[in-house]
Amino acid sequence: MALLQLRDVSKAFGGLQVVNSLDLEVGEGEVVSLIGPNGAGKTTVFNLITGIFRPDSGEIVFEGGIVSGLLPHTITTRGIARTFQTLRLFLNMTVLENVMVATYGHTRASILESMLQLPRSRREEKEIRKLAEEKLAFFGQRLMGYRWDQPAYSLSYANRRRLEIARAMATGARLLLLDEPAAGMNPVETHEMTELIGKLRDEGGYTILVIEHDMHVVEGISDRVVALDYGVKIAEGSFDDVATNPRVIEAYLGLRTAQTK
Ligand SMILES: Nc1ncnc2c1ncn2[C@@H]1O[C@H](COP(=O)(O)OP(=O)(O)OP(=O)(O)O)[C@@H](O)[C@H]1O
Ligand SMILES: [Mg+2]
Repeated sequence: MALLQLRDVSKAFGGLQVVNSLDLEVGEGEVVSLIGPNGAGKTTVFNLITGIFRPDSGEIVFEGGIVSGLLPHTITTRGIARTFQTLRLFLNMTVLENVMVATYGHTRASILESMLQLPRSRREEKEIRKLAEEKLAFFGQRLMGYRWDQPAYSLSYANRRRLEIARAMATGARLLLLDEPAAGMNPVETHEMTELIGKLRDEGGYTILVIEHDMHVVEGISDRVVALDYGVKIAEGSFDDVATNPRVIEAYLGLRTAQTK
């Protein structure tokens, strides 16, 4: 059975049908890319999966259990974590602290215990630090050593994106939802991001659903591609199949809009 399933999921904002009867599956260990023009509903799909919005109809199933309707933090503790299109880091905290706080949902000591420095929390803090360091190690030289104690605001844009991914990993999630991980990156960084996503799957054991506009990245990372347009799934399959699908080409070139004018 698929790790994640969206079954006939719909969501409207006012009169606008943003996600329309969407069926989507992500299998264990897969990297699936969600593509589509601006406003197609991609980020809304992430917001539905992570519980920020409830579907108007349909259901979302993770590891065989229904998660639609649960609170966002409950969904995170079930094993789904995400990054945001517009980054959400604690800019005044250090790189390491940013990753450490992301683990709190699945470690035992409360933040209060930690502040009081109780013995259990001191032991836990060491474990949490180790876990955070392990996650950061995935990013190699880019997020190594001396950077751990720097405030997040001192990081480059690309490193902030990497740090967001490290935070998602640190929640203990099995499924990572990455919203445009290569946005704003230069070609070298974009290539590194492509490699990183493969490494997250192959070495990290993560299953990944990723929204991405850069077709080189999509080609490089995807086991499968799903294309959305106006909230409707218009194509699904290998990168080559989807990239050459006439409906996808039409959606990207806006031919329909031009013809109906
Ligand atoms: N909270 C909201 N309230 C009202 N409308 C919304 C809300 N969130 C998204 N929308 C609308 O839903 C549509 C889809 O938005 P969404 O952000 O999901 O698109 P997207 O595919 O992620 O686009 P992009 O590639 O530009 O990030 C847009 O028309 C957007 O304005
Ligand atoms: Mg978006």
